[in-house]
Amino acid sequence: MASITIRNLDDATKEKLRLRAAAHGRSMEEEVRLLLAALDVHAGPSITQISAPSSGLATGPLAGRHILLIIGGGIAAYKCLDLIRRLRERGAHVRPVLTKAAEEFVTPLSVGALAADKVFSDLFSREDEHDVGHIRLSREADLIAVAPATADLMAKMAGGLANDLASAVLLATDKPVLIAPAMNPRMWNHPATRRNRTTLANDGIRFVGPNSGEMAESGEAGAGRMAEPLEIVAAIETLLDITPKPLAGKTIVMTSGPTHEPIDPVRYIANRSSGKQGHAIAAALARLGATVHLVSGPVTIADPEGVFVTHVESARDMRDAVERLLPADAAVMVAAVADWRTANEAGEKIKKQPGAAAPALQMVENPDILAGVGHSKQRPRLVVGFAAETQDLLANARKKLDKKGADWIVANDVSHATGVMGGDRNAVRIVTRSGVEEWPDMSKEEVAERLAARIAAALQTIEV
Ligand SMILES: Cc1cc2nc3c(=O)[nH]c(=O)nc-3n(C[C@H](O)[C@H](O)[C@H](O)COP(=O)(O)O)c2cc1C
Repeated sequence: MASITIRNLDDATKEKLRLRAAAHGRSMEEEVRLLLAALDVHAGPSITQISAPSSGLATGPLAGRHILLIIGGGIAAYKCLDLIRRLRERGAHVRPVLTKAAEEFVTPLSVGALAADKVFSDLFSREDEHDVGHIRLSREADLIAVAPATADLMAKMAGGLANDLASAVLLATDKPVLIAPAMNPRMWNHPATRRNRTTLANDGIRFVGPNSGEMAESGEAGAGRMAEPLEIVAAIETLLDITPKPLAGKTIVMTSGPTHEPIDPVRYIANRSSGKQGHAIAAALARLGATVHLVSGPVTIADPEGVFVTHVESARDMRDAVERLLPADAAVMVAAVADWRTANEAGEKIKKQPGAAAPALQMVENPDILAGVGHSKQRPRLVVGFAAETQDLLANARKKLDKKGADWIVANDVSHATGVMGGDRNAVRIVTRSGVEEWPDMSKEEVAERLAARIAAALQTIEV
């Protein structure tokens, strides 16, 4: 690929380029790079010819950072297109390496166009290997991310194999390596993969995910879903230790998940809360430097990284744990706490008696944890509550502001049709005394990131 100097173009071409770049919100140089990459991804520049994006162009937390992104051959490879976009919008330079199998799932053309760089996949490329390009790829990177990390790639890494470009780069590197595994839950839990996981962790390889949930194959669920692009970005930022820490020195108490209210030793009343939103917020706050104490109801997801977690079952246990954790700078109460519990928990399993009527459950009200914190003598400077509603969302949220003594209520519609409870996306409204802010539908990680940033900004201004 020829190199082009924009200043040498004739004026008319320069003007056309300027307008096109402005329409796309890009620099002229970036626009040219994208056009050329889209035209000729395979015949792109050799490794030696590629220059880093001009440092004047990139802004954002990852500006000037070079991420070598190795894309493995799994269904989750399509998520890498979004991952590349997310990394680039934060200023990173992304250089993609595709395994041969990955090319079955995403095209080098779309990967190259989004990364605005050549796609590398051939270990024995005459063009790139004249100066041992696989070593150069590693040397020029600040960090290597593998997403999706297939069972096969993990096995190769653990075994020290180097029979294709991806595995050769991974064996030849001394840079931090982050992997985002993605595979069928049975592959993830296979003894061989378990052994490889341990080996890789002992070798200093960092993991992000996998998450639990529905798999692409119908009827399959469990641990093995690749972490979401924003989770991977956050893990990269953590590994490069570049996340700004506006919440350093601040303590935040949080709740997340459902509560279980016992009926007898084996039965309980619960709700559909998965803890995904609360846990994501806890992780996002911790990434911004806060000391986060999370009181989690019973959930099946992993504890968020960098967070102190207390596990509880019932609303009363949750209240006691929260009270023990005060005072704090902020409280973010996300848990779906059961409003009622049974009045008399049976000491023994309630037996079904032939001909007898079904037992009538007598209910009593549970403590209101959010109101307790909002009206406490040790009230944090910022109290944020969540209101899961199925009707009159805003009216109910507004009422809760005063009733609960909260500064903000994050209201979300949890009607069945929205799929919010247990799902991966959320559309929330932030209700405060000065109005309502409506956020578009987005992933729970994005909600978490935005809310954490808003909390950081608020704690910097509310100095009571
Ligand atoms: C439709 C399809 C989906 C696949 N999805 C995955 C996957 O999600 N994770 C995985 O580890 N392997 C998956 N595989 C198997 C890999 O593609 C296969 O092991 C391949 O050799 C991996 O090569 P790589 O590790 O060099 O990318 C899938 C295979 C097919 C045909």
